[in-house]
Amino acid sequence: MLLETIARARAEREQSLLQRRCRVALTPCAPHQTFAAANPVDPPRDLLSFCSNDYLGLAAHPAVAEAMAEGARLWGAGSGSSHLVGGHGLAHARLEERLAQWLAPHIPEARALFFGTGYMANLAVLATLGTADATVLCEKLNHASLIDGARLSRARLRVFPHLGYDRLETLLSGCDTPLKLIVTDSVFSMDGDLADLPRLLDLAERHDAWIVVDDAHGFGVLGAAGRGALAHFGLRSRRLIYMGTLGKAAGVAGAFVCAHADIVDHLVNAARTYIYTTAAPPAVAHALQASLDLIEGAEGDARRARLRALAAQVQTEVGAIAASAGWELPLRDSVIQPLIVGDNGAALALAAALEVEGLRVPAIRPPTVPEGTARLRISLSAAHTTHDVDRLVAALARAAAAERAS
Ligand SMILES: Cc1ncc(COP(=O)(O)O)c(C=O)c1O
Repeated sequence: MLLETIARARAEREQSLLQRRCRVALTPCAPHQTFAAANPVDPPRDLLSFCSNDYLGLAAHPAVAEAMAEGARLWGAGSGSSHLVGGHGLAHARLEERLAQWLAPHIPEARALFFGTGYMANLAVLATLGTADATVLCEKLNHASLIDGARLSRARLRVFPHLGYDRLETLLSGCDTPLKLIVTDSVFSMDGDLADLPRLLDLAERHDAWIVVDDAHGFGVLGAAGRGALAHFGLRSRRLIYMGTLGKAAGVAGAFVCAHADIVDHLVNAARTYIYTTAAPPAVAHALQASLDLIEGAEGDARRARLRALAAQVQTEVGAIAASAGWELPLRDSVIQPLIVGDNGAALALAAALEVEGLRVPAIRPPTVPEGTARLRISLSAAHTTHDVDRLVAALARAAAAERAS
C-alpha cells in the first residue's frame, strides 16, 4: 500500500514536471563546480553555477576552511550531546556572545542562541512563542520553516498577502489574543525583494505586537559590516526577534536567534528543537568566528561591493533579454534575481538549454513558488566575476533567440 501510494505520487510529480533529484557535486562549493552526470556512464560536467546561497563566497574560503580544521583539532569532531546535557562548549558560547554584540545596537538586552540550522531555529521560535493565547500573522511568501513553525504552534494562524501591510493592519485591529507575532522574511528567498521592516515595526508598536524577522538572505549581505536587515534599516526595538542563518552568506552552517535575553532564556528552557537535538559540532562555531571576521572587515566590504556591481549587471543585461523574450526580471538590487518564465515546462526547458551551455541555474517550480510563476532563480556570489555574468547573458540571449525561432 505504501509503495503504491508513493508510486502514484511520483507519477503525478513526473506528469507535472515536478519530480526532483539531487546532483552530486564533486568539487567544493564555488561558482565553477564539477557535478556527477545523472547517468553514471556519462562523464562529470564542469558547470558555472548561479544557484548557491554562498553569497559572499566564503564557503570554501581558505581562512574559514582552516578555522574549521583548527576547530576540529581543538574541540574534536562532535559535541557529544544536546546543549543542556553537556554539548554546549566554549566555542558555542563565544559565538553566541559575539553575535549578541553584533545585534546589540538593534535589540536592547540582546542575547543570541546558536542552532544547528535555520529550519530548527524557526521551528523553535514559532512553536515555542506561538502559545494558545497568541496569533501568528504570517506573510504569504515566508519560508517553509516559518510556516511549519506556525503549524506546530498552538497559536491562531493568519496569513497576510505578500507585502500586504494594509491587510495586516486590518488583521491586527481585529486580533483579540493577548499575544501577536508578526512573522516575515527580510529578503524573500525566491523573489529577492525586501520586507518593509520599518513599517512592520511601526505596526507592531501601534498594535502591541512582536516581530519575528528571518534574515536568512540578509545576514552578511545587508547593512554596514554585513550586520543584516536591522542594520540596513537602522531599526532598534525590544519587539524584534531576529533569526540569522550561518550557512548562507556566512558560508558555514547553523543559525542563531537574537532577542531580548528573557525570550532567549525561555527558548533554552522550552524550545524542543533546541533541547532535543545534539548540539552542532563546536568546530562549526569556531569556523564561524573566522567567517564573522571576514564579513565585518575590509574583505567583506569589498565582497558586498562586488555583489552590488554584479546585481546591477544582471539587471541591465538580463533585463534587456527578458523584456524581449516575454520573461520578467523584476527590479531588484539583490543577490537573488528571479527570472520569471511562468510555465513549469518552459522554466525547465530554459534551465536545460543553459545546462547544455555549461551553466547551472535551477528552475524553481510550485509548490516552492506560486502556480504560473516558475522561474530561474539566479543567485549571485561575490565569487562570480563579470565574465561569469557575461556567459550567463550570452546563453540566455541564445535561448531567447532559439525560442523566438521555434
Ligand atoms: C528564508 C529562509 N529561512 C530559513 C531557512 C533555513 O535555513 P537553514 O538552511 O539554515 O536550515 C532558509 C534556507 O534554507 C531560508 O531561505
